[in-house]
Amino acid sequence: MWFFGSQNLVGATGGIAESQPVLCIKTNASVVSLRLSRYTGWQQHFPINLFMDKRLQDNSEKITHFGFEEVKWADKQQRVAEVFHSVAAKYDIMNDLMSFGIHRLWKKITIQKAGVKPGQKILDLAGGTGDLAYQFTQKVGEQGTVILSDINASMLDVGREKLTNRGCIGNIEYVQANAECLPFAENTFDCITISFGLRNVTDKDVALASMYRVLKPGGRLLVLEFSKPIMPLLSEIYDQYSFKILPFMGQLIAQDADSYRYLAESIRKHPDQEILKQMMLRAGFDKVEYQNMTGGVVALHMGVKY
Ligand SMILES: C[S@@+](CC[C@H](N)C(=O)[O-])C[C@H]1O[C@@H](n2cnc3c(N)ncnc32)[C@H](O)[C@@H]1O
Repeated sequence: MWFFGSQNLVGATGGIAESQPVLCIKTNASVVSLRLSRYTGWQQHFPINLFMDKRLQDNSEKITHFGFEEVKWADKQQRVAEVFHSVAAKYDIMNDLMSFGIHRLWKKITIQKAGVKPGQKILDLAGGTGDLAYQFTQKVGEQGTVILSDINASMLDVGREKLTNRGCIGNIEYVQANAECLPFAENTFDCITISFGLRNVTDKDVALASMYRVLKPGGRLLVLEFSKPIMPLLSEIYDQYSFKILPFMGQLIAQDADSYRYLAESIRKHPDQEILKQMMLRAGFDKVEYQNMTGGVVALHMGVKY
């Protein structure tokens, strides 16, 4: 029903036009939030059981993983939300420190591959603090629109403040939404990106299908995500680094070792390059290909909707 509610509402109000309300999922998982797409702060809360998603009910006994821990399907979203509420304020600095700044290069390549043009409409999904969204605003110009969307209000708040301080207004909108049930009309976007977000999503197949639905024919999806290192030696060093050093750094800088332990574990549980490619094909994407970066530590998957 979240899906039904959001689709109808957005459809009825003409999509994502400025200052029109969109129905979103509040991270708290106990409320659904209705807020203006311009992120004015105006919002209305409804008890979530009014909109309870049948999929969630059906999956309530199903088990999934949260890092290496097994959790109920219905609980994963809340656990992920707690991680990102906790790390939001220190997210950017931790990203630079943990990756030695290399995440900037991965993102730069993603922007180049996206080939976005002036006037286009772009969705940066699970966009967090807005690194990609910011670059896209520079590409689409005044006539284009970039939607920075994330399920987590804390991450979105940090992103909005950062981009506003950089003078980024006019061609950007902020939408709090779940990647599994996107509140946009079908065939809306020229390009969708999701960077380091997909592995946190509970139902990745449903999320990919939702992205496919809102992409325009001819549009492309780019998924930037941690993947499987292709060299055994690199894999060994990477394991030591992520399981020993990352939680230590997380404790030191963000006073939160657990969230960074989750980061390392969630990467190991994420589908590898080939499996993700198959998932994208299954969701309907064509011409799916991927490019390994930093020896497969990260992979950029690209697919087109025809
Ligand atoms: C590691 S951060 C990535 C942020 C940004 N894209 C980047 O590359 O720096 C992952 C983001 O995914 C978001 N996320 C997790 N589950 C989500 C979902 N189901 N729908 C939308 N966003 C989600 C989190 O709130 C978080 O902001």
